[in-house]
Amino acid sequence: MREKLAEIKKAFEEKIEQAKTQDGIENLRVEFLGKKGLITGVMKLMGGLSPEERPAAGQAANDVRAFVESRIAERKKELRQLELERSLEKEVIDVTMPATPAAQGSLHPLNKVTEEMKRLFIGMGYEVAEGPEVEYDYYNFEALNLPEGHPARDTQDTFYITDKILLRTQTSSVQIHVMEHKKPPIRIISPGKVYRADNLDATHSPIFHQLEGLVVDKGVTMGDLKGTLEVYAKAMFGENTKIRLRPHHFPFTEPSAEVDVTCWGCGGKGCRICKGEGWVEVLGCGMVHPDVLRRCDIDPEVYSGFAFGIGIERTALARYGVSDLRQFFENDVRFLGQF
Ligand code: DAH
Repeated sequence: MREKLAEIKKAFEEKIEQAKTQDGIENLRVEFLGKKGLITGVMKLMGGLSPEERPAAGQAANDVRAFVESRIAERKKELRQLELERSLEKEVIDVTMPATPAAQGSLHPLNKVTEEMKRLFIGMGYEVAEGPEVEYDYYNFEALNLPEGHPARDTQDTFYITDKILLRTQTSSVQIHVMEHKKPPIRIISPGKVYRADNLDATHSPIFHQLEGLVVDKGVTMGDLKGTLEVYAKAMFGENTKIRLRPHHFPFTEPSAEVDVTCWGCGGKGCRICKGEGWVEVLGCGMVHPDVLRRCDIDPEVYSGFAFGIGIERTALARYGVSDLRQFFENDVRFLGQF
């Protein structure tokens, strides 16, 4: 019987070494320890032994059984570890592999020209000021020499919220806010949205953007204004750009002018972009009207100033040779991706 047990043990040791899967081990457990298993079979023979032989044989059988049980548990653990290692090897991630390219966005062309303008004027010592888009009539019109009934109000078809509150039609309203709170020297720009009750077409939109500029100090002249605008035009449209000031009327500046730049497309000869003119209008400007200064408690006998209002869409149209303003608002990525 001892020999039989030794044989079983030996057979088990060989087989367990070769078991490569959890299933294989389970089969071994059934083969050796199951109801009809080899060890169980030996145990059953125990009855045929003499009482003297029985304890030692029982002990030996139990030892083998215990050995088989513990070896099975051990082998299961070893296999689990092996399987883990194998799967870690297989599922290894190569962090040096090139990633799937992600589509990258870009600045909207209107934001792009706005940012460029801001950078330029900040470089010349200007600060950026903000004002409300929902505005009092006073700041948008009255304080800018456009009292009730003034005919120039009609050209800016206004969205009224109440009799006294409206969506600002021009960033010039920010001039008044700034001068109410700050005394000269003043040097600010204010980019932002403005609103007019216009129908959307190739050159009009009920929402568009302006960048206002205001400088107030002692001894500020029209020459300073022109020099500033020249720097602006060259930075925006190229070194060879020339500007021309055409006399115009704005109620809040005196004298006032509209400013054209030589067409960057043809250099002034006339082309599709400037509609054959050679010049493109980009802004309005002038010397701040004494009444406007006085209304903000700034003495026009001591101080003078200039102001300008740049059309941002207009600048972007001219700059990029876009012919239809609506493209800026349709947000077609095929268009936006070009800038
Ligand atoms: N606010 C004017 C407009 O919307 C543009 C303008 C003209 C602004 C002359 C100014 C200025 O600051 O001095 O048409």
